[in-house]
Amino acid sequence: MYDLIHIIHLYSVFIYAGFLFTDVLFFSRMKTNFSPAEYAALREIFMGYVKRVVPVALLTAVLSGIYLFVQVFGEIAPEGLSRFQVLLSIKGFLGLWLGMRGILQKFFGIEPLVFKQHTFPFILVIVIILLSQVMYL
Ligand code: HEM
Repeated sequence: MYDLIHIIHLYSVFIYAGFLFTDVLFFSRMKTNFSPAEYAALREIFMGYVKRVVPVALLTAVLSGIYLFVQVFGEIAPEGLSRFQVLLSIKGFLGLWLGMRGILQKFFGIEPLVFKQHTFPFILVIVIILLSQVMYL
C-alpha cells in the first residue's frame, strides 16, 4: 500500500511540476511573439486544458503526501526532532502551502494573496524535490 501511494505521489507531482515547468519556462515566454490580445486568447485555451488536470494532480500529491508523511515521520525522540523529521516537516509545510493555494483558487475561487505568478510555486517545487532527496542523506 505504501509503495503504491508513493508511486501515485511521484506521478501526481510529475504532472503538477511538469505544468509549472512548461508555463514558467516556455508558455509565458511566448508573450513577446504575440500581441497582448492573441497571447490572452492562447493562454485561455491553454489554461482551459490545464484546469481539467493540474488541480486534481496537486490535490492527489498533497493527499498522498500526507499519507506518506504519517507513515514515515516516526516517533519524536526525547532529544527532539531528527534531521530527517525537520527536513520532511519543511517539505510537508511547503507542499501543504502549495496545496492550500491551489485548493482555495480552484474550489473556492480565492486567488493567492502573495506571489500570484506561477514562478513562486515553480521555485517551491524545485526546493521540495531537493528536500525530498536531501532528507534521506
Ligand atoms: C505539491 C507539492 C509536493 C511535491 C512537488 C512533492 C515531491 C516529492 C518528491 C519528488 C518525493 C521523492 C520521491 C522519491 O524520491 O521517491 C516526495 C516524497 C515524499 N513526500 Fe512529497 N511532494 C509534495 C507534497 C507533499 C506533502 C504535502 C507531503 C506531506 C504533508 C509530502 C510528503 C512526502 C513524503 C513523506 C515523502 C517520502 C516518501 C518516501 O521516500 O518514501 N509531499 N515528494
